[in-house]
Amino acid sequence: MISVDNVFFKYPGSKTDTIHGVSFKVNQGEIFGFLGPSGAGKSTLQKILTGVLRDYRGSVRVFETEVKDRNNLFYENIGVDFEFPNFYGKFTALENLNYFASLYSRKTIDPMQLLELVGLHNDADKKVINFSKGMKMRLGFIRSILHDPKLLFLDEPTSGLDPANARTIKDMILEQKRLGKTVILTTHNMHDAEELCDRVAFIVDGEIKALDAPLALRKHIRDKEVKYAYSQGEKVLEGTTLLSKLHNDKDFIRILNNGSLTSIHSKEQTLEDVFIELTGRCLH
Ligand SMILES: Nc1ncnc2c1ncn2[C@@H]1O[C@H](COP(=O)(O)OP(=O)(O)O)[C@@H](O)[C@H]1O
Ligand SMILES: [Mg+2]
Repeated sequence: MISVDNVFFKYPGSKTDTIHGVSFKVNQGEIFGFLGPSGAGKSTLQKILTGVLRDYRGSVRVFETEVKDRNNLFYENIGVDFEFPNFYGKFTALENLNYFASLYSRKTIDPMQLLELVGLHNDADKKVINFSKGMKMRLGFIRSILHDPKLLFLDEPTSGLDPANARTIKDMILEQKRLGKTVILTTHNMHDAEELCDRVAFIVDGEIKALDAPLALRKHIRDKEVKYAYSQGEKVLEGTTLLSKLHNDKDFIRILNNGSLTSIHSKEQTLEDVFIELTGRCLH
């Protein structure tokens, strides 16, 4: 569905490349994620994939088309949700959706039905200029699926949404997958990446540092941290060790044998722990 080979990109006026030799493939029907901190190059990469930034080196093929050479038909089959969606502020939500729907030659979904799905049906006749960021985000998301595209690009679709609205959008993304659609998603949220994505690329400084299924990426961290507490007189003290070292950790064995252990638990490593281990960087 998508084949990216050794892509480099430099913004006009910038001295250095923002994207450095990125290669990957996306299969039909998968949710493919880019996970990385702010400034990693996720939005830049999405703009390259969607034909907004065409001055790249290397090859980017989407539906067998080199994106540089795309024509307008290209946009009939892809849906794009931008990080900062633009709307006509003086028009209502419904007028905006009707306008964008009119740009497609293919059949579009009833905008009212989509507004209802994201809880905006009572705001259909409000001008978008009066929408909150979260409302615009939801509107941007439904605009991207208006024409029922086969391939969807979502740039931080849940960022800044409250938990209930984020849940709605995540369920709708999973529904797209059930319908057989392919989804490319960028996020700096490890929970979203883990829950939604079949495969995740870790991106830092415009480079892919690792790429695999979330579960497979987690296997990079073999050791678990163990935290325990023990009593000493009136005080409760804490200790930390690694699961693999527990059996010959002298302090721990002593505490275990003298009966002063009061609690013990192993900490599950998160996808962010793996991210830090593999890239040397945090997600924030
Ligand atoms: N229009 C632009 N011109 C020059 N540099 C840009 C432009 N847009 C983004 N950048 C730079 O490119 C890098 C990657 O940005 P971006 O793709 O927005 O990252 P992310 O989406 O991962 O937060 C950043 O260093 C950013 O400052
Ligand atoms: Mg971004």
